[in-house]
Amino acid sequence: MDEKIVIAETCIGCGRCVRVCPSKVIESGRAGHPVATHLRRCISCGHCVAICPTGAFLHADFPPERVHGFSRGELPSPEVLMTLMKARRSNRALSAEPVPREALERIVEAAHRAPTASNGRGVHFTVVVSPEEVRSLSLFTLEVFGRAARMLENPLVRFWLKPLKPHLYDYLPVLKRLQREFDAGNDQIMRGATAALLIHSPEGSSMPADNANLAYQNGSLMAEALGVSQFYMGFVCNAVRMSKGRLEKRLGIGGTIHAAMALGMPALRFDNYVDRDPACVDWR
Ligand SMILES: Cc1cc2nc3c(=O)[nH]c(=O)nc-3n(C[C@H](O)[C@H](O)[C@H](O)COP(=O)(O)O)c2cc1C
Repeated sequence: MDEKIVIAETCIGCGRCVRVCPSKVIESGRAGHPVATHLRRCISCGHCVAICPTGAFLHADFPPERVHGFSRGELPSPEVLMTLMKARRSNRALSAEPVPREALERIVEAAHRAPTASNGRGVHFTVVVSPEEVRSLSLFTLEVFGRAARMLENPLVRFWLKPLKPHLYDYLPVLKRLQREFDAGNDQIMRGATAALLIHSPEGSSMPADNANLAYQNGSLMAEALGVSQFYMGFVCNAVRMSKGRLEKRLGIGGTIHAAMALGMPALRFDNYVDRDPACVDWR
């Protein structure tokens, strides 16, 4: 296809593509037939192709092999979906068994399907499976936290900083405990995870942290459905932020890590779910 958008003869002029295009690329032309008038605005979301009832809407980014029919009956029921969400846990009781490659691939695929701002799709994934690399994520985090702890304990810094940012000093015992536990053979950062999924974006992406965390949630639900345990690597993400690019550089990641998932096979499974406190909701 030479042109990015071609409307084939089979178009019935139903106007659905005009209606769903978020960027108003397509207008209704003569006899209701769509015309692509503002191609430069196209964000390649694929709505036009996905809504076309006759396959007449041809988009260079979505050749026929990238367009799939599905039946709404295949979707999980709200009850099933809600049970998945209730059952999802941050399971840290992990076995030494590695997560099968196929499961990791499906988790990445689920994460990759999440929405991104302006369909920028600038979410990249690094899957860490080598035991040394997984361990190095804990070591990196402890090194960053150790440096921060020493800085906070410096008497001069403490004198100035504690009155200004007392909450920073609330973390000091946690930073020190993590190192003590690690030294005692109890890694409270990776907690025996055998893999990690780092979600990152190149510089200049729009809303990168939002995109990464939406991807995370897709991936975590897929992990639960696959029987793979996961938990959010908040300590590592904090260390990433505090170290301003050092982990990315070490791993050869061009961009910034915005979310990270520790993965492992469960040693124990949760057979019950518990109720959360009621949601804080305002209806207006
Ligand atoms: C932003 C964020 C950071 C988190 N960081 C960690 C972490 O570093 N280590 C960990 O074991 N769990 C971490 N968690 C998991 C939470 O502790 C967990 O979601 C919470 O206790 C509720 O449990 P649930 O996920 O099983 O429902 C994090 C969760 C979020 C949302």
